[in-house]
Amino acid sequence: MTELLRTQADLDRAAALGRETLYPARLKVLVGSASCGLAAGAQAVEEAALETVTRLGLDAVVARTGCIGFCQREPLVDLLLPDGPRITYANVTAKSIRNLLESYAAGGALPAGAALCRWQREEHVADGTLHVYPAAANGAGQIPEGATLPFYRRQRRVILRNCGSIDPMRLEEGLARGAYRGALRALTQMTPEEVIAEIRESGLRGRGGAGFPTGRKWETARRAQGDVKYVVCNADEGDPGAFMDRSVLESDPHAVLEGMLVASYAIGAREGYLYIRSEYPLAVSTVTHAIREAEARGLLGDGIFGSGHGFRVRVRRGAGAFVCGEETALIASIEGRSGEPRPRPPFPAESGLWGKPTVINNVKTWASVGPILSRGAAWYAADGTDRNRGTTVFALVGAVKNTGLVEIPLGLTLREMVLEIGGGIRGKRALKAVQTGGPSGGCLPASLLDLPIDYERLSEAGSMMGSGGMIAIDAGTCMVDLARFFLAFTADESCGKCTPCREGTGHMLRILSRICEGAGVPEDLAVLERLARTLKSASLCGLGGTAPNPVLSALRYFREEFEEHIHRKRCPAGVCRALVRFRIDEALCTGCGRCIEVCPVGAIRGELKSAHAIDLALCTRCGACRAVCPVDAVESAGRDHEKAVRGGT
Ligand SMILES: Cc1cc2nc3c(=O)[nH]c(=O)nc-3n(C[C@H](O)[C@H](O)[C@H](O)COP(=O)(O)O)c2cc1C
Ligand code: SF4
Repeated sequence: MTELLRTQADLDRAAALGRETLYPARLKVLVGSASCGLAAGAQAVEEAALETVTRLGLDAVVARTGCIGFCQREPLVDLLLPDGPRITYANVTAKSIRNLLESYAAGGALPAGAALCRWQREEHVADGTLHVYPAAANGAGQIPEGATLPFYRRQRRVILRNCGSIDPMRLEEGLARGAYRGALRALTQMTPEEVIAEIRESGLRGRGGAGFPTGRKWETARRAQGDVKYVVCNADEGDPGAFMDRSVLESDPHAVLEGMLVASYAIGAREGYLYIRSEYPLAVSTVTHAIREAEARGLLGDGIFGSGHGFRVRVRRGAGAFVCGEETALIASIEGRSGEPRPRPPFPAESGLWGKPTVINNVKTWASVGPILSRGAAWYAADGTDRNRGTTVFALVGAVKNTGLVEIPLGLTLREMVLEIGGGIRGKRALKAVQTGGPSGGCLPASLLDLPIDYERLSEAGSMMGSGGMIAIDAGTCMVDLARFFLAFTADESCGKCTPCREGTGHMLRILSRICEGAGVPEDLAVLERLARTLKSASLCGLGGTAPNPVLSALRYFREEFEEHIHRKRCPAGVCRALVRFRIDEALCTGCGRCIEVCPVGAIRGELKSAHAIDLALCTRCGACRAVCPVDAVESAGRDHEKAVRGGT
């Protein structure tokens, strides 16, 4: 029978076993196999690694881990050398992993040029210990250190502390990096009130969007009357383009379970739910496995750590409706009712699941709790700014060179995020805006790049933190079209319970579509603003209340683009199909013929190696030519431009 983990000594023994697989005395091939890695082909890489290790008779182990963050460069594979550092390889293929292992087996130096970086030390954030790898040998010394790369240099990985390092299916590996130390301290050395005080002092605020102080929420639930209370993890994550919560669950599920366990003790709950959307099957299976493992070792169940406290967790799968991330809708969904919000108050901390006091927190919030308890509030609060303590995770996507999951101390600027960590803008276009907060947030212009990223500053500027989506937008994006995209999402996801949101989002969307189609009228902008005010003040829940944000921020910072669409029937970015005409710049065109190959209607003519031209009568403005042109010779412009090209006025 597996040993129950009740004391510090028990955790230490299990951690020692974890260290054996975490840092074996032989070569370890660690394949990033979270959803991002698998989508990029990690399975084939793992199979090739296993086959090569067997074929060559290598003394090596092939293991799986979660996501290390640099999702754009997946599949990512780490080689942990028995006598050297850990080396990360990006964009690995079955062929390249075979080559690497063959080169290693031949006793030669590892091909340094193929490596992304090397790691000489790893901080085990939850307990503050350090794992130091032997000094670089075998040519690995030429590989740059990970901590010096622009993508990693400014990052501080607390929530993502174990992601991409441990095998999420092995509890011992989490324990080897300090998991459940915070829970042990809380349950055996502290009163519930002391636990709540520690969370309050840390300054932790909810990472699900609104940034409500976590300690205050727990305190309300602790004080609320009732024998039965609940703890809930909100892993609905419906924002388009955001995938941080999924990644944490897939890569380090015990970090989330530990946070929930601590809260259950603090508020006096014996049951908890993890609400995960069904589109996240790997997260569901990883978390389900972690719950079984924790139960088998006594970390969930009765008498945890020999205390009088018991806690059980169940997984509930959501059908993938954005509104079910709203806490009262989430509660209705868990209860088996239709996922529709209800008015607040009462807040869930007073009356939540089945009318009982319920603490609902986001995945990242839960994952922040363990280290706060094991290392103390002051340690946590040292990162961030006065009112925005600690770190948070962003899914940095869009036009930047480096996309992926990025964890930063709050207070870093948008410039540091986009230009430094993101590596600047891909292609030749300039940065135009940064969108934060997904459909509830807004677009901030490049002129605000020095804005610090925190709850208040983003919202004062007309956007919001949200759950952590961050999209870099280049000059090739039409802001009217982008506002329409986000509004189409919220209009589609509106549950329809209240009239302002149901009718208002639809009405705003029709106006925006009209503007994009060239049929906008001058009164449209005032109507949009009036509707936005009504939605904000009269909607029942945050979905309708924040739906106008992308439109309002676009109007605030990019009003002239709306006006161009309405008054001059021109889309300056050349995106809105009804308003653009494509033409090929003869001076740039090299006559490579790629546009001719992809044009679905045969509208492009020209000889190889001489400038091509587009027949505007045939062109359907699909943009395929522009997408493939290697020299950016395809221009798109508004109707007035077309007139100029044709010699009109
Ligand atoms: C339409 C809508 C969708 C939401 N989706 C999520 C979500 O996917 N995940 C999440 O944690 N919070 C989401 N929230 C916020 C939650 O309602 C709630 O504030 C949060 O789970 C509280 O946790 P926190 O204090 O840790 O942030 C959403 C809110 C609204 C209005
Ligand atoms: S604001 Fe929208 S999503 Fe929220 S309750 Fe009203 S209709 Fe439903």
